[in-house]
Amino acid sequence: MSAATLKAERPKPFDVERVRLDFPCLQQTVHGRPLVFLDTAASAQKPAVVIDELARVLREDYANIHRGVYALSERATDLHEAARAKVQRFLNAAEAREIVFTRNATEGINLVAQSFVRPRVRPGDQVLITAMEHHANIVPWQLLRDQLGLELVVAPVNDHGELLMDQFEARLSPRTKLVSVTWVSNALGTINPVHEIVELAHRHGLPVLIDAAQAVQHMTVDVQDLDCEFLVFSGHKLYGPSGIGALYGKADLLAAMPPYQGGGEMISSVSFEHTEFNEIPYKFEAGTPAIEAAAALGVAIDYVQELGLEQIAAHETDLLAYATRALQQVPGLRIVGTARQKCSVLSFVMDQAHPQDIGTLLDLDGIAVRTGQHCAQPVIERLGHSATARASLGLYNTEADIDALVASLRRIASMF
Ligand SMILES: Cc1ncc(COP(=O)(O)O)c(C=O)c1O
Repeated sequence: MSAATLKAERPKPFDVERVRLDFPCLQQTVHGRPLVFLDTAASAQKPAVVIDELARVLREDYANIHRGVYALSERATDLHEAARAKVQRFLNAAEAREIVFTRNATEGINLVAQSFVRPRVRPGDQVLITAMEHHANIVPWQLLRDQLGLELVVAPVNDHGELLMDQFEARLSPRTKLVSVTWVSNALGTINPVHEIVELAHRHGLPVLIDAAQAVQHMTVDVQDLDCEFLVFSGHKLYGPSGIGALYGKADLLAAMPPYQGGGEMISSVSFEHTEFNEIPYKFEAGTPAIEAAAALGVAIDYVQELGLEQIAAHETDLLAYATRALQQVPGLRIVGTARQKCSVLSFVMDQAHPQDIGTLLDLDGIAVRTGQHCAQPVIERLGHSATARASLGLYNTEADIDALVASLRRIASMF
């Protein structure tokens, strides 16, 4: 093998300083200080290519899709379906029709609740979740509980915020209709052993929904390898626009499910007496979708794939280790969520200051973190807190961002 070939095959180094230049929003000052953005778990900043694609579609390729016989509409439709194919390849789904565009991960979970679980539920049937779920994977099941008597069963976590697998297994029962778990906890950063969870559930003949809202931006996802029945994510956490997300579902399951909402696009023929539904995935996509956002999500996927998810993961893993060591040196600070398998999230409390005050004081230094319960109130309370401050990492964060955070936290610790 020649030296040139060897060089070409070597993985590209991850040049975070160059990558940062792709993100216009990061190039600003806040309260006179350079912005340090540490709230990517809530929503990621967008690279210029994504922003440009939104504008480009609206300028050049915009018309309603799947309807027009004219060239512009056909072009817009092709773009939309090309974006679907990109999501398919990104998740390694077997077929593009297994990808349903949704508004976000929340809508994907609600779709599965209403179209997959609801028709199967008898009073006393159960959905099994974990104690670390986002509210998006709690409340849809409570709606079914109130409407139909579904029981919500919760597998507990230990004091580190790790799922207790033996307790999880003990809660699988003949009454379980679905196992629905987050891959990565947004509040703690815990990575759940989803492959093991799917295997266990399948041994009991049970389908699994994976909430990958905090996973797809940090690691390679392969739904065929995982073999889950359903998986959801949001575009806005994957450096794409808001208003677009996706539900992956195995084709045979999606085909057998009733529609989630009624309207245009999801039908093949309508009379006042009877409606024939469209084929999957369109059966689940009632009304005009987020046309420009879907195209821009496709570009966001291209962007992270060009950087390489493995390189992104390696960069973020190093940074999480650096940040964990640095935060542990801050007087009076305790990290909340200390799982062995963790990813990109640092929740913490301080003896001296309430999380709300920490967030406000950090903001004065130009540092953006989230404070509160992070839409995961039960797990924050389980670990003994009413709220935490949360710094979450994205592919554009640097050691300098962490140094700025730590310096500011040291000042806060000395103030109180
Ligand atoms: C783990 C997890 N699931 C679901 C959601 C809901 O995402 P969205 O609000 O985009 O629907 C979030 C958002 O923070 C999340 O972190």
